[in-house]
Amino acid sequence: MKLLVLGSGGREHALVWKLAQSPQVTAMSVAPGNAGIAAERLVANGALVQNVAIGAEDVPALLAWAREHRPDFTVVGPDGALAAGVVDAFQAAGFKIWGPTRQAARFEASKAFSQDFMVRHGIPTARSGTFSDPVAAKRFCAELGGRCAVKADGLALGKGVLLATDLPAAERAVDEIMVDRAFGTAGAQVVVQELLEGMEISLHALCDGRTAKLFPTSQDHKRALDGDLGLNTGGMGTYSPAPFLDDAQLDDVGHRILGPWLAGCVADGIDFRGLLYPGVMLTASGPKVIEFNARFGDPETQVYLPRLENDLVDLLLASAEGRLDAVGLRWSSDACVCVVVASGGYPGHYEKGKRIHGLDDVAALPDVKVFHAGTTLKDGQVVTNGGRVLGVTAWAPTLAGARDKAYAAVDKLCFEGMHFRRDIAAKGLK
Ligand code: AMP
Ligand code: GLY
Repeated sequence: MKLLVLGSGGREHALVWKLAQSPQVTAMSVAPGNAGIAAERLVANGALVQNVAIGAEDVPALLAWAREHRPDFTVVGPDGALAAGVVDAFQAAGFKIWGPTRQAARFEASKAFSQDFMVRHGIPTARSGTFSDPVAAKRFCAELGGRCAVKADGLALGKGVLLATDLPAAERAVDEIMVDRAFGTAGAQVVVQELLEGMEISLHALCDGRTAKLFPTSQDHKRALDGDLGLNTGGMGTYSPAPFLDDAQLDDVGHRILGPWLAGCVADGIDFRGLLYPGVMLTASGPKVIEFNARFGDPETQVYLPRLENDLVDLLLASAEGRLDAVGLRWSSDACVCVVVASGGYPGHYEKGKRIHGLDDVAALPDVKVFHAGTTLKDGQVVTNGGRVLGVTAWAPTLAGARDKAYAAVDKLCFEGMHFRRDIAAKGLK
């Protein structure tokens, strides 16, 4: 089977690494890929994965490439490609592709759509309002006593959310998003939510329109600095499982969220075939959905896939073809930890092109895998090429063991300006 994978981040490297383990896969191309992806080999025949120099959102160029190279199955990583309609375009041209259509991907592409859906279908979420007028938005912030999350409606690379604990900060957040347009046109509308308190976890469920198969728990670390300080980022590290729910509690949370979500999709005619990733706050009054994403989490994927025992090609085909009810997910009992190594300055301004040292040393470590996020090759050397650079991932029978292995690997790596958090998985170990 010839695969095409879209994307270039750590999530996509993890997807490629896992898909390459399938005995069914005889060729794999990735648009645009990165330096780590291009070093992966297929288990079936030892062939190298090929990078293709086309952006994941460049739908016309991707379609032209597909018409020439005829992939048997295409796997979409990032939300931007979904919102650009790549699934719709490939399906219309007769290509088999995994991921939600543009209409179904609105769960992520529009927070206003998602919030309205949750309220109409009884999915537990924060008290909220949607506004296209800054004055009305500020009035609602005042109703919430200034304790609120102010969110740009559209896609903003995981950065379009500002949290406030008093009214002046909330009003500044509204101005920043709606008036100064800090996140561009994504801020034409805002969603204002009450501030939820509790432990935040990530859920993932593979869906085929009628069935949703829940993954184990994981937890991301969104802030840039230790102790959850600093700016929100795309995610600085993850671990799985996150020990705040036992299996029965996870099942219960899954039912409370996925039950009404699936029923709502059927009622509204939304055929969601892909990965639903609800961000959930475990509050004193029960689990509440903070937001929905319509794709694998980054870096959640990096800790889920080393634990997954199924052939990922089988799972994604079953999701795309509506056959998930007959499939059982199997997970290793190991814990897995991913520490993201970022460029100095991220999520603000950072420099690229820094040579990365130590990758060969780390490649020799057992139960460790370095997923590349923002890397490229320059004169045969791996150099930094993005904000999040590497996802250093390790697994072991215990969470502490996995954490120690991951940090031992991080300590062998270096590049100018390298930055990472020292407390990934600490909450789970408390
Ligand atoms: P989002 O992109 O909507 O997931 O928001 C980014 C991050 O901001 C989340 O992962 C939470 O840590 C935080 N956040 C968002 N909404 C809320 C809320 N209503 N209450 C508390 N924290 C929130
Ligand atoms: N882990 C954060 C995200 O994928 O949005």
